[in-house]
Amino acid sequence: MCGIVGYVGPRFAIPILLDGLRRLEYRGYDSAGIAVLNPAGEIEVEKTEGKLKKLLEALQDGGPPGFLGLGHTRWATHGLPNEVNAHPHADCQRRIVLVHNGIVENYASLREGLLARGHKFVSQTDTEVLAHLFEEEYDTLAKDGYGVPILPEAVRRGLKRVRGAYAIAAFCRDEPQVLVGARLFSPLIIGLGQGENYLASDIPAIMRHTRRAMVMDDGEVAVLTPEGVAIRTLEGEEMHREPLQITWNLESAEKGGYPHFYLKEVHEQPQAIENTLRGRLDGNRVSLSEWAHLDLSEVNRVSIVACGTSSYAGLVGKLLIERWAQLPVEVSVASEFRYGAPIVDERTLVVLVTQSGETADTLAGLRLAQEKGATSVALTNVMGSSITRGADATIYFQAGPEICVVATKTYTTELVLLCLMALDLGRRRGLLCEAEVAEVVEELRQLPAKVELVLKDEDVLKEVARQYGHRRTFFFIGRNLGYPTALEGALKLKEISYVHAEGYPAGELKHGPIAMLDEEAVVFAIVPQSDTYEKVVSNIQEVRARRAQVLAVATEGDEEIQALAEEVFYIPPTLEALTPVLAIIPLQFFAYHVAIERGCDVDQPRNLAKSVTVE
Ligand code: AGP
Repeated sequence: MCGIVGYVGPRFAIPILLDGLRRLEYRGYDSAGIAVLNPAGEIEVEKTEGKLKKLLEALQDGGPPGFLGLGHTRWATHGLPNEVNAHPHADCQRRIVLVHNGIVENYASLREGLLARGHKFVSQTDTEVLAHLFEEEYDTLAKDGYGVPILPEAVRRGLKRVRGAYAIAAFCRDEPQVLVGARLFSPLIIGLGQGENYLASDIPAIMRHTRRAMVMDDGEVAVLTPEGVAIRTLEGEEMHREPLQITWNLESAEKGGYPHFYLKEVHEQPQAIENTLRGRLDGNRVSLSEWAHLDLSEVNRVSIVACGTSSYAGLVGKLLIERWAQLPVEVSVASEFRYGAPIVDERTLVVLVTQSGETADTLAGLRLAQEKGATSVALTNVMGSSITRGADATIYFQAGPEICVVATKTYTTELVLLCLMALDLGRRRGLLCEAEVAEVVEELRQLPAKVELVLKDEDVLKEVARQYGHRRTFFFIGRNLGYPTALEGALKLKEISYVHAEGYPAGELKHGPIAMLDEEAVVFAIVPQSDTYEKVVSNIQEVRARRAQVLAVATEGDEEIQALAEEVFYIPPTLEALTPVLAIIPLQFFAYHVAIERGCDVDQPRNLAKSVTVE
């Protein structure tokens, strides 16, 4: 939620800031703003309500020259998404300016105190209190004769009074070579250039300028000058950090000729899956070196914790782990897990699935797992993201950057990774023989090519979306491994088309929702060849008897299904365990083309953000 970027160096800051914001817009797009220090030594701020496009228009003349600056793209938490509440925010004297991603939980009491001490506020945001807190600390330090730069110390002292979550970039009018960053529970990275340095919420914002980055830890404050970077904890302890090398290529963060990142990322799935498998298949075996060091011999249950799409991938993971490793698996939505009384102890393996690695509730799930002494494994796509800190092992999807706000290739790569984990667990527990593993491994190798085949059906889905896209109610039904696909298919439609859609276990429809079916309703049935094929066919019959329109995802060669559905989308035969990877693709296309039919903003759907860093 919210993207922040900062620059200090010898180049004009504004083009760098705007390019960075363009690459961070997936994190929020309610408003945008920048601040630079102009040659007269004044802070100039430009902010606009709405998407970044409006800010770009406002800065068509290039904006003020300046070599120190920061920028923000907002996903509103406190205060309406208007120009006044847009970041950056400044103190009373317009001496300190900052951008913030997160929530200041004690902002009301801090604001009250600041008001009583004469501070004046212009916005309804929690963020503005930070500018005033830093101002107060700055004045005290200056009065006491603290040597320049004062801002880093003022930030450090100010933040000690703050409860909540933050990633911050700030600078001060009187310290023209100093950019300050700080983080607690919200991501912040430092890009290391030659004679220049950067701050950003995420890697794509700096990839154009540098491939060397440092990931800040919680409770740290960084001081960036053109010449270098120094990091200290809030307590003042100096920290040393090894830079990491960014391996993503820049093209992968561009649209590459596709009209939307969504469509590009759907089409990237064969390559993404290949990348997820890379180095992890060794002959006929699975080799997951990232968690090989963990002793799992005492594990007697697995708890998968995730949100949204990642939790649906978790449901597939549960079925595979139970099938192959014969361990009981519970899948919890992270926002519920953290406030329940989950049965987690030293013998539990907690698997945290999060493409962004920054989802606040999933991070809280990790903390809870740690408190209970469980073994934790993080699955994520983002290098150095928060979830990787503290987990006993991290396994990366290796899917490359996913820019569209909604998940597509990260979902299918999550499925592949969970499949590898389930296989590995089964083998480690001595429950799968070599031949069984080899059979799945062989199918996994063929998976990218099979995904490629399903991608060829896009035009058919486009036509079907044209025919059915105006309907008001959609159900997606499936059983067993088809059920998570139904949930994810419904979520995709809701997210990017704003159409009412529900994912249901096929057998559950008759326990209530069937009352909603009539000739207007559309039911997408996920019915590939599987042990439950005939059961789903019976459910389709029930749907047809209520005159609803049936669209089906089935396995090539299944002709019987044609008589039961208005349209059938075929996926190539594969092992049942891998059908979720193929079956979701027609649904991804369907959601996309319905969204286009309805004129929706596919890459930046209303109200959503890619990293949900607040509860
Ligand atoms: C996916 O399309 C959604 N935008 C959303 O449900 C997402 O999966 C969820 O917020 C979890 O995100 P994470 O994987 O980054 O933790």
